Parts: sequence; C-alpha cells; structure tokens
Amino acid sequence: MDMKQFIQEMPKAELHLHIEGTVSPKRVLELADRNGVNIEFKSEKELLDAQDYGTPPLENFLKYHYMCSDVLRTGRDIFEITQDYLEKCVIENTRHVELSFDPQGHLERGIEFGELIDALNKARKDSPVSTQLVMCMNRDRTLESALEMLKLAEDYKDDIVGLGLDSVEEGNPPVKFQEYYDRGRELGFKLTAHCDCDQNNAVEHARQCIHDLGVHRIDHGVHVMDDPQLIEDVKERGITLTMCPTWRLGDPGPRRIPAIRKMLEMNVPACLNTDDPEEFASRYMSNMLSVVQEQGEFSAEEMTQFMRNAFVGSWIPDARRGAYLKELNAHLNTFKYKSDTS
Ligand code: ADE
Ligand code: ZN
Repeated sequence: MDMKQFIQEMPKAELHLHIEGTVSPKRVLELADRNGVNIEFKSEKELLDAQDYGTPPLENFLKYHYMCSDVLRTGRDIFEITQDYLEKCVIENTRHVELSFDPQGHLERGIEFGELIDALNKARKDSPVSTQLVMCMNRDRTLESALEMLKLAEDYKDDIVGLGLDSVEEGNPPVKFQEYYDRGRELGFKLTAHCDCDQNNAVEHARQCIHDLGVHRIDHGVHVMDDPQLIEDVKERGITLTMCPTWRLGDPGPRRIPAIRKMLEMNVPACLNTDDPEEFASRYMSNMLSVVQEQGEFSAEEMTQFMRNAFVGSWIPDARRGAYLKELNAHLNTFKYKSDTS
C-alpha cells in the first residue's frame, strides 16, 4: 500500500466544511439557469479561472463564495447540493462530517429556516455518512440578526449541534457576538468560531474566542501559534484547531505547512479540513491530504495523528468516537504491516 492509497482508504472526519462551498462550477451554472439568477460568469472555465483570488485573499474569496451561494434559492437546491457532497464523502472514505451552513443568506433569498433544515436533514438521513450541523453567523452582519437566528435554531436542537462564526473578520471581532455565544452555551450548543489567517488583530481575536466566548473549537486558528500563552490555553482546554491547508489556483501548493508541523510537534490538537472544496484548488479530503503529506513530508503516523485529532475534536458520543479511533488505528497498523512485509 503506498501513501496515496493509505490516505485514500483512511477513515476520515471533517470538522470544517461549508456546504455552500461544495457547489461545483457546473452546478452553479445549472442552478443559476434553473432559478433565473444572472451571474457574472458564463462558463465553467470562467468560474474556475475566477478561483485565482489575488489580494485581499479572504475578501476576494468571499465575494466569489457569496456569488456562488446566490444561486441557491429553494429547499430542493439545498437538498441536492448536500446529497452531492455526501456522495463525495462516501468516495473519500469520510465517515463523519460536522457540516456548517450559513442561514442568513438563505433566508434573505426566500428559503425559510424550517425548509432549510428539512432539506439538509432529507439529504443527511439517507446517507451512510454520519453528519451533524453547525450553524454559522456571518460576522459582518449584526448581533441582532444572529440572536434572531439562534431563536429559530432553538426548535431544531436535535439537528444543530453547534454554533459558529464566519465571513469578514476585519472590523468584526469575536466579542461583537458575546451575547449570542453566552445564550448558545446556555442552550447547550457546542461553540466554534473562525479565526482566519493574516487578519488584523488575529492574536487578540483568538484570545477573545478562547477567553471571552469560551469556544470548544476554533476554525483555522493558525495565529494561536504566535502566542505561547494561547498555545498553552488550547492544549489545556482541548480546543481543536480545524486547520484548512487549502491552496488557491496559482498557489504553489498547500499553505501553512510549517505552522501545522509545529502544531503536531507541540501537541496542539489540530486537524486538516477542506473548508470550501469546490472553491479551492485543493478540492476534497484525499487530494488535499495527499498533497499536504507529500509537501510536508509527514509520515503515516503523523497523518494518522491529524485524523485522530479530528475524531477527538468532533462532537459525537464517546462510544462512537472510540469505534472510529479503533478503526483508524487498525488502518495504520495494516499500513505498517504491509510496509514491513513488502
Ligand atoms: N465562509 C466560507 N468559508 C469561509 C472562510 N474560510 N472564512 C470565513 N468565512 C467563510
Ligand atoms: Zn471556513
């Protein structure tokens, strides 16, 4: 068994995945046509070419991301894209996904909250892949809007496991959403928030997430590594960093490899994720992991450790976690046995 096969067949979990970022250019065009939405790009090639985001990377990426999300207009659209993504997970050997969704944009486009959750659930229930939902607030919108969404989410506590924060970080510090997080914790939701890369006040934002919001995970969170105290804090509290060493069209390869190696060496709980697989050149799990493994020269044990961290950081019952971890260890042992005997 070579490394590629080892990674392809590895039982996987993905904790940082936006369902709106799984719509392929082909699908974007089909849905734009079906829903009568006029988008600026007219062919798959034009859409793919536009994935060279340039600078500022987060803002330009988000502009593309929201343009693609804009073609989603009905529960049927949400159902179909979720079904497509979960079919991909089967091929990727992804066993468990904590799937983020952005309700605010969908509601604005006319999908009701219940219809949105029903569509996600309809796709989830027929899939062999285990999934849980994470509701993400766009941080460039208001606290009031986030509190309204939380009120709606209260009726779907069996479906939504956690709350997150995404979108434009500049000027929108985590503490803007203090009340939303406090209320979410009281209601029993798990908590995460994006701390994106190379943002102003990145270290302070990570500190706010840990100490003010009291998150259980951080999405990305690479700048935790800039502060020795925050490194200790995430280790002590068991806060998993859901890193996404994705790369854009035109990049030489995965970003942030030195930081993720340092996380591994310092026992910082970090896992590897695709974020928005149809919007980055890194695409889906096996491809992203294989290129990260090759370019970072990570061993099979090290790749297994990242995946162990994902299962440990997931919000599933301990018995299921134990079963996944056993399966993961068995996969590593098979690889080692085959390598020793070949
Ligand atoms: N929405 C989708 N992907 C995102 C990311 N990586 N950062 C912030 N908001 C996002
Ligand atoms: Zn993200």
